[in-house]
Amino acid sequence: MSDYEVRVSGKLSEAHTLPARLYRDPEVLELEKREIFSKTWQYAGHTSQLSKPGDYVTTEVAGKSILLTYAKDGQMRAFYNVCSHRASKLADGEGNKPILTCPYHAWTYRLDGSLNRAPNMDGVENFHPDDFCLKTVRLEIVESFIFVNLDPNAEPMSVLYPDLFKHVRKYSLGNFKKARVIETICKSNWKVGIDNYLECDHCSIVHKALVSKLDMKKYEMEMYDNYSYQGTPLKGIEGEYGLGQGGRYYWLYPNTWFSFDPGPANLSIHQSIPIDHKTTKYIYTTFFMTDEVSEEEEELMAIDQLVRKEDLEICEEVQKGIETGAYTQGRFSLTENLVHHFQLLVQKDLEQSLQRLAAKIPSTI
Ligand code: FES
Ligand SMILES: [Fe+2]
Repeated sequence: MSDYEVRVSGKLSEAHTLPARLYRDPEVLELEKREIFSKTWQYAGHTSQLSKPGDYVTTEVAGKSILLTYAKDGQMRAFYNVCSHRASKLADGEGNKPILTCPYHAWTYRLDGSLNRAPNMDGVENFHPDDFCLKTVRLEIVESFIFVNLDPNAEPMSVLYPDLFKHVRKYSLGNFKKARVIETICKSNWKVGIDNYLECDHCSIVHKALVSKLDMKKYEMEMYDNYSYQGTPLKGIEGEYGLGQGGRYYWLYPNTWFSFDPGPANLSIHQSIPIDHKTTKYIYTTFFMTDEVSEEEEELMAIDQLVRKEDLEICEEVQKGIETGAYTQGRFSLTENLVHHFQLLVQKDLEQSLQRLAAKIPSTI
């Protein structure tokens, strides 16, 4: 990072935070899309959305549209949502279709990605339908959660995130039912939101209502190579605490959070999707174990929304501070160790590209 003042040191007590320019430079976001978002596991949906032949779901990863399908052979697959004829987008939203028809010239595909019919191709020489299947993307299912990775060489999730959900795995996470999806726009760089989520020094100041119910003296933080965990029980709960008896929050590098909040058995998955270098879309997907959302569950979602609003407002203020140019780098408290961990991962993934950017050497990728 020759262009920047100080690298993030691996030693927390002497480390500076990431340089502010990484939060306000559109070129840095382009590097992040290529070096981070295109090479990491991204949450793409829940198995309940792909439960019968013909089901399909679309999502976006690193600005690219991705198609998930459930084919007749009982397999879930992921593809680039790009027609093999002349690259039109093949499908939108989600639904169920026996065959997918491109809206441009009506080439059709089976849900296993094979080309079914290519109209107007009679007389075309050396045209082999097998050469024009949809291009596949890696897909993995953890519990009932579907992840995709644009990097064909990425390590499997079991290697990158071993022991994930160890505190809650015994609760049949496959029984969760998707209840609600909420999208919010925050006017801050995506890393501001991650930095914010990975420490709770601000909780007693910014989230007074939430913290009043939790036993903050028991707050735990655990760090693994590619993810981290934070959690604490409700006041009055002793020993190992169950689902809903406290908060359990898992963050998966780079941008996915699995949050189990106090209250009725629940899970909300948060994804932060960069729109541009100072705008981030948050997608919150909430799951419960019940078929109908109860009053208690509505109340829980209302509290979640309050906490998210509190975080969003503070993140927007941070971005404004960064944009002033008056701030270059800060320092970490010793309880900001998970933020430090995240920033080291970002630094590792971007370092070579940032050096090339500083030296104006074009990328070979
Ligand atoms: S681009 Fe899809 S059929 Fe032509
Ligand atoms: Fe917060």
